[in-house]
Amino acid sequence: MPDAPRVFVTRALPGGGAPDAPLARLRAAATVDLWEADTPPPAAALRARAAGCDGLLSMLTERIDAPLLDACPRLRAVSNLAVGYDNIDVAACTARGVAVTNTPGVLTDATADMTFALLLAAARRLPEGERAVRTGAWGPWHPTWLLGHAVTGATLGIVGPGRIGAAVARRARGFEMRVLYHGRHEAPGFPGARATLDGLLARSDYVSVHLPLTAETAGICDAAFFAKMQRHAIFVNTARGGVVDQPALARALRDGVIAGAAVDVTAPEPLPPDDPLLSAPHLVIAPHLGSATEETRTRMAQLAVDGLLAALAGRRPQHLVNPQALTAGCREVVG
Ligand code: DGY
Repeated sequence: MPDAPRVFVTRALPGGGAPDAPLARLRAAATVDLWEADTPPPAAALRARAAGCDGLLSMLTERIDAPLLDACPRLRAVSNLAVGYDNIDVAACTARGVAVTNTPGVLTDATADMTFALLLAAARRLPEGERAVRTGAWGPWHPTWLLGHAVTGATLGIVGPGRIGAAVARRARGFEMRVLYHGRHEAPGFPGARATLDGLLARSDYVSVHLPLTAETAGICDAAFFAKMQRHAIFVNTARGGVVDQPALARALRDGVIAGAAVDVTAPEPLPPDDPLLSAPHLVIAPHLGSATEETRTRMAQLAVDGLLAALAGRRPQHLVNPQALTAGCREVVG
């Protein structure tokens, strides 16, 4: 394919090897260079492999910044296999006429399911029970052993009433929970009542965060945030680790400021083995599995491929993060 666009893909894509599988579709339309390792390409390798490419299909583990873009003069599109794109300097892409696409919508239910799995696991102390069974600490039934907290009928506070927050709220209705939400704007149709952040923290038994990581939200869940929660409350985060001040969370758990937490995301990922969070009590922790189902990851990969191919063909991608990149004029094809 001499005139086909050249694309660097930073990890093997889910979806198998059928002709309509995401990677096969991409290979049918582009010359694909695939990073075969399971770990992300180091920055230098990313620069070297993307340098001659027209498109990049990246993961949330790759930092797409101005120096990288400057090393890739042909690049016209970056398609992120994620709904979150805090790994990408969007302004730098826009300034260079590089389109950025993401994969919203298709992971909403999987992430909401995971939020509830974590919430229930923390509320009912499931990992502690499992550890007790496996380590021989399982004694005869006792009326006060490993008591958790009720979920049915409790109050759930959702910080960030976007798609995933709304899907979590719908699930909460099945548990007869009262749902409060806090967002910068009124969220019409959201299945819950709007509250101030302080009001939500003071009234919720469970607080679940669904915010993108931006300069504004970085570290927003800090010591003051946890101090405003009820002492019996549980904090849940399936958004991004960076929205949490992690040392403050570890302290809040250690000092009994809150009763527990369940997180699917941390900063960094993976956490180093000596991170204080790992020794904090009453913490359920998962390795960023929110969207990790075969069905969801395949749909994400299909969307990522669709976005990249549309941008490279000069069409407007369905999930374009920076429409200004198009009005700024996409990069001319070099060479
Ligand atoms: C996303 O798409 O941003 C998720 O974090 C991936 O699981």
